[in-house]
Amino acid sequence: MQKPATTDHPVHSLIRERWSPRAFSPKPVPPEVLRSLFEAARWAPSSNNEQPWAFIVAAHEDSAAHARMLSTLVQSNRAWAGQAPVLVIAVSKLAFARNGNPNRNAFYDTGGAVAYLTTEATARGLFVHQMAGFDPGKAIELFSIPSGWEPIAAFVIGYPGDPDSLPDTLRERELAPRNRKPLSEFVMSGSWGHPASFLGT
Ligand SMILES: Cc1cc2nc3c(=O)[nH]c(=O)nc-3n(C[C@H](O)[C@H](O)[C@H](O)COP(=O)(O)O)c2cc1C
Repeated sequence: MQKPATTDHPVHSLIRERWSPRAFSPKPVPPEVLRSLFEAARWAPSSNNEQPWAFIVAAHEDSAAHARMLSTLVQSNRAWAGQAPVLVIAVSKLAFARNGNPNRNAFYDTGGAVAYLTTEATARGLFVHQMAGFDPGKAIELFSIPSGWEPIAAFVIGYPGDPDSLPDTLRERELAPRNRKPLSEFVMSGSWGHPASFLGT
């Protein structure tokens, strides 16, 4: 299913076509495609080139790890995310390797890496749906995540599925229109609260 953004200004089709579905096909994601997605994440920029991210990946084929990762999700996410062939937890390293100082941009950089991965996925006809709704403590325990690293978000990767495969409430959300704040609410210049002049509003 396609659900392109109805943009106010032109954007690249990779941005327009990305969205966060809940219906996924069980079709596996080939290993070479997964390698390319994480290669895209690898080339994201980061503060001091720290690359403070790590990803724990559980594909359907590894049913034990997949079930373990699924168990870290909140129930409302578990209801749909198990359909997708690949589950991932994104983890951030909280301190710089070179001096141990706190890295206040670690989460920001990890999000950027996931955005790169997501764009590569879109280019390959895949979809990514990120989730804050998971239990980081359980993820630490079940996947032996060391101290100094924090699980930030979970996400699924997969090919689009049939919205009719979803329970009623989720199907409604799947078909609901997408919306966004206008640029004038969050692009400012001069001082806080003043829409940037180039917006022409
Ligand atoms: C960090 C983050 C956490 C999210 N957490 C959840 C979640 O727990 N469950 C869910 O169904 N969607 C989750 N989403 C998806 C958002 O709801 C979705 O991106 C947003 O509604 C915009 O829709 P779109 O991605 O289709 O444009 C999350 C997205 C992000 C980036």
